[in-house]
Amino acid sequence: TLFKIAAIPGDGIGVDITEAAKQVLDKLAEVNGTFRFEYTTFDWSSKAYKARGWYMQDDWEAQLKTHDAIYFGAVGWPDVPDHISLWQMILPIRQVMNQYVNVRPTRILRGTTPPLAQLQKTPQDLDWIIIRENSEGEYAGQGGTTHGHTANAIATEVAIFTRVGIERITRFAFETAKSRPRKKLTMVTKSNAQRHGMVLWDKVFFEVAKEYDGVVEYDKMLVDAMTVRMVDHPESMDCIVATNLHADILSDLAAALAGSIGIAPSSNLDPTRSCPSMFEPIHGSAPDIAGKGIANPVGAFWSAAEMVRWLGKGELDAVADQFMEAIENVTGKPDTRTRDMGGSANTMQVTEAVCREIENV
Ligand code: NAI
Ligand code: MG
Repeated sequence: TLFKIAAIPGDGIGVDITEAAKQVLDKLAEVNGTFRFEYTTFDWSSKAYKARGWYMQDDWEAQLKTHDAIYFGAVGWPDVPDHISLWQMILPIRQVMNQYVNVRPTRILRGTTPPLAQLQKTPQDLDWIIIRENSEGEYAGQGGTTHGHTANAIATEVAIFTRVGIERITRFAFETAKSRPRKKLTMVTKSNAQRHGMVLWDKVFFEVAKEYDGVVEYDKMLVDAMTVRMVDHPESMDCIVATNLHADILSDLAAALAGSIGIAPSSNLDPTRSCPSMFEPIHGSAPDIAGKGIANPVGAFWSAAEMVRWLGKGELDAVADQFMEAIENVTGKPDTRTRDMGGSANTMQVTEAVCREIENV
């Protein structure tokens, strides 16, 4: 099988880790022999934007749609305001490509040192999948500004919640929970203070939940209390479903609790498979370490493993699991960890080590 991948390295360390991911994916294909990847690399970045005034061509939608999946590095660079770079690329792709689910698994990989003493003793306590609503809510892009930059400036940022949007993400979350050994789902909102959209969210969630009574165990949290529970009782959770903004924040916290933002993956899925889905580590372009060749590629590899799983439609689950095993064999050894994981290896050394492991497992 040939999988056509649209590769968008983007900015900063996005470039390094996308290159690393391609190398590892090609090794996986070579060793397996039943599939291969063909990449189209898109020069859509902040550097290109500065030079020519645009990120993506007008027909970007048609260009991406000729691919089976999108592999994304990171976008954003200090000389372009972040709201421009995000709204010129990553957010339109998620919305227009119908990627209404963002799946963010978190667990403590072998060799990582989580910051909490409790989790150092029982790393298996942290094993979550955060399911982020990816198409609407606080990132709907609605709002406006008046009185410009005057002392009377006014801005609105309108969150949009639709029954259709809430229902489909809730259903996806329950199905995910149902497929996991612990079968638990925690729903997060802020429906005490935000009395319209969040209340609708709660209502729709509990309607859908009825269909899963006795199958999935579920509960509800307010987002502020949720941050405390994640730190104090990580073992009490399994799957978590939340809005676009809340899940964005909670997943960075989750990554930090698991040991590093550099290991966390994400999948932007169109569950209907009418558009290509997009896979990317959750970290950004990391200007502070860009160009040094020291970025941790593990989040990129994990995202690539999830891409293989998605492309395989159930046929490549074992391959994705072996890929993860190879990654953990590498993070498990002190001399093949990057600095954020307490080691001193660079991106290339970790990449080569994972390629060697893929040949062995
Ligand atoms: P960031 O994730 O780029 O960096 C945060 C910190 O984590 C930095 O100290 C960085 O060195 C470290 N870090 C991140 N990834 C790492 C890796 N793979 N290995 C080792 N260390 C790593 O977040 P920040 O600094 O807030 O944002 C930088 C730029 O990236 C901004 O322009 C922001 O808008 C953009 N961004 C883009 C995202 C995307 O493309 N999806 C997501 C998050 C941020
Ligand atoms: Mg984020």
